[in-house]
Amino acid sequence: MSSSPTLPPQVSPSEFAVTATRPHALAGVEVIALPVLPGEDSGPLLGPGADEVGALLDVDLLALLEADRATGSVGEVSVLPVPLGAPENAELRQVLLIGLGDASPDDFRRAGATLARSVLDRASVATTIPAVEPAAGLEPFVVGAMLGSFGFSWRSTAPEHVPARRIVLGGLSDDDLPALQRAVAVGGASWRSRALASVPANLKNPPWLADQAVALAKEAGLEVRIWDEKALADEGFGGILGVGRASATPPRLIRLDYEPAKRSRRTPTVVLVGKGITFDTGGLSIKPGEAMVNMKRDMTGGAVVMAVLAALADVGCPVKVIGLVPAAENAVGGDALRPGDVVRHYGGRTTEVTNTDAEGRLVLADAMAWAVANVEPDVLVDVATLTGAVKVALGQQVGGLFANDDGLAEALLASADRSGEPMWRFPLSSAYEDRLSSRIADADNAPGGPGAIIAALFLQHFSGEVPWAHLDIASSGDAPADSYEISKGPTGFGARILLDWLGSPDPLSGIGS
Ligand code: BES
Ligand code: MN
Ligand code: ZN
Repeated sequence: MSSSPTLPPQVSPSEFAVTATRPHALAGVEVIALPVLPGEDSGPLLGPGADEVGALLDVDLLALLEADRATGSVGEVSVLPVPLGAPENAELRQVLLIGLGDASPDDFRRAGATLARSVLDRASVATTIPAVEPAAGLEPFVVGAMLGSFGFSWRSTAPEHVPARRIVLGGLSDDDLPALQRAVAVGGASWRSRALASVPANLKNPPWLADQAVALAKEAGLEVRIWDEKALADEGFGGILGVGRASATPPRLIRLDYEPAKRSRRTPTVVLVGKGITFDTGGLSIKPGEAMVNMKRDMTGGAVVMAVLAALADVGCPVKVIGLVPAAENAVGGDALRPGDVVRHYGGRTTEVTNTDAEGRLVLADAMAWAVANVEPDVLVDVATLTGAVKVALGQQVGGLFANDDGLAEALLASADRSGEPMWRFPLSSAYEDRLSSRIADADNAPGGPGAIIAALFLQHFSGEVPWAHLDIASSGDAPADSYEISKGPTGFGARILLDWLGSPDPLSGIGS
């Protein structure tokens, strides 16, 4: 046995604070960032706080914009160096003028990320960008400013860059504090999802993931239960056990419970299920080497579910939520599941495993069947890096959505729009249903055909009569390059959607009517 590897401590996200004071009057600030809005014919305009900064430094900031040919588009940054500091603030080194475009929520998020990427390593930053429109802009701005500096490192040396330690949002009031708390919860959940999905699989195995869930439950005040391999066998979780069988580290099923402070016997329950494959070799239907490189992130759905559960209290979620993460490593070995084997899922339905690389649906099926049989959910949502097909269809910027309930689909699509994690709905076409038939079992796990739809139809059999949605995030779960709030690598896609939805005043309205 090799000794278990040690992950070095990771960087923390920036801290945020609101104040009524404008940046020019904040002592100790190293960078002041001001918003630039595209004016009409007059050229770009500067936002709140700019007059005071111009007066303090005795510079014409509009002339700087003109010299840079700045237009106020999002992504633009003009830099005014202040090498010697300012009167009353010896620490000041830079003023940044940051484009805010049309000041839409997407623009605020991107302006936040642009700021984050411009102020790495700074101790103290102040900005008035959210003061342009706090009600609509503060939350996306802070989410972008948090996620733009996400980092994960397992180098022997310290990380090259770290997020700004503190970002103060000036020109606001205490009324803006709830939006800040929410934003930090949402950004933090995406951060946590990315971090978990980034951990290499020589450390991240199912028992390790379960340990993370236990730690997170303690931190967030959630109930937690872990099924080990023996408990899984006793209760008949044949899908999870089959997929996890060849691994040196045994499978787990993780359950986290959130209950709102204000609840009654009639408070509804939402179950979230996240695919927790800690590494996907494909099993005996083995993947080619290049296709395997990124498969440590095949537990992104599980990471999203864990991170969302931890953040529900901070977004004021009014319903009960149970998070389930079936966790297994899809490995190769003499004991591996073989093509042609039959597994018996929780509750008794059987599947002929014609391709061991279609493992996600096998573990999700067990968890969904358990939820339907044991907790009578009002809504069931699963999140999974399930099919290469969804990536072919949508590319890496849009997630796939399936739902058996139009109200649920609409709610999730609206949250997707608002939170900057776009999704596209696919059909659960019953015309393809007959493809699932197996000569010897209740279903075939990989019959060919339209891959994302087939996988969703397979799962639908385990959803009972419950309003159910399936998020296939094999597409958007990974980013090819840095872009605004997105960092290259695992994206944690879905955490923001689910928190926007579950953090709304009445998440279940219009669902399952
Ligand atoms: N984890 C993969 C899906 C995946 C592909 C995620 C690319 C992220 C990026 C999943 O387990 C898988 O292997 N699916 C197969 C299913 C097929 C064998 C029916 C696929 O999509 O090729
Ligand atoms: Mn697979
Ligand atoms: Zn997989």
